[in-house]
Amino acid sequence: MDIGGSGIKGCLVDLDEGRLLGERVRIETPQPSLPDSVYGVVAGIVESFGWGGQVGVTFPGVMKAGVAHTAANVDKSWIGTDVDAGLEQRIPGAVQTLNDADAAGLAEMRYGAGRGRGGVVLMLTFGTGIGSALFVDGRLVPNTEFGHIQVDGEDGERRASAAAREREELSYPAWALRVDRYLDVLEAGLWPDLIIVGGGVSKKASKWVPLLSTRTPVVPAELQNDAGIVGAALAAVERLAP
Ligand code: BGC
Repeated sequence: MDIGGSGIKGCLVDLDEGRLLGERVRIETPQPSLPDSVYGVVAGIVESFGWGGQVGVTFPGVMKAGVAHTAANVDKSWIGTDVDAGLEQRIPGAVQTLNDADAAGLAEMRYGAGRGRGGVVLMLTFGTGIGSALFVDGRLVPNTEFGHIQVDGEDGERRASAAAREREELSYPAWALRVDRYLDVLEAGLWPDLIIVGGGVSKKASKWVPLLSTRTPVVPAELQNDAGIVGAALAAVERLAP
């Protein structure tokens, strides 16, 4: 399951192949996105698959031992909420919740653009916010929040997320300049060996990735929209959630 600010998505996952099994179900995130309403939607989707086994769930905030610690793009009432416990009251299987970008990164490292890559790999997801997942020799350093580094006095994701591009109606070259500046600040404090860029805009990678002037090689994600769901399932089965 993938809980996002605009949609809640779920599917059965084939972990041998790292792909969705059948059609993904997507329901609009209730507004306001309060925990109880969201749990109801998640439970409904799980039930629609007749699934009683383990469920991996992504959340767009810092997640530790099932508890949400931040909520930048969802209702603030999530902060301090035990999401695993709340969901386990409503669905039959055990639940493992983790940060959405960490889940997407786990999937890319196992099945996609980061496969077999050692060293320091940084996955960034460009959507409503900017999510980050950091890997050292394939091992996740959970809950990095590089979307919130300060760039020229502003929250990084406020200037350089995919939502900022849409909100400000920026062309890809204009937005690429923003991303470039964001990555410049990020690279001042981190020397990764590879950056994987994900989120919906990774489908249009040819329009902006070649315009970046980073010292680190940048490659588009391969699993795109499915990465969060696949990574959540992987985390649930292999107990990778922090
Ligand atoms: C949140 C992160 C999340 C990212 C992408 C940011 O605003 O702080 O936790 O991974 O958005 O959803």
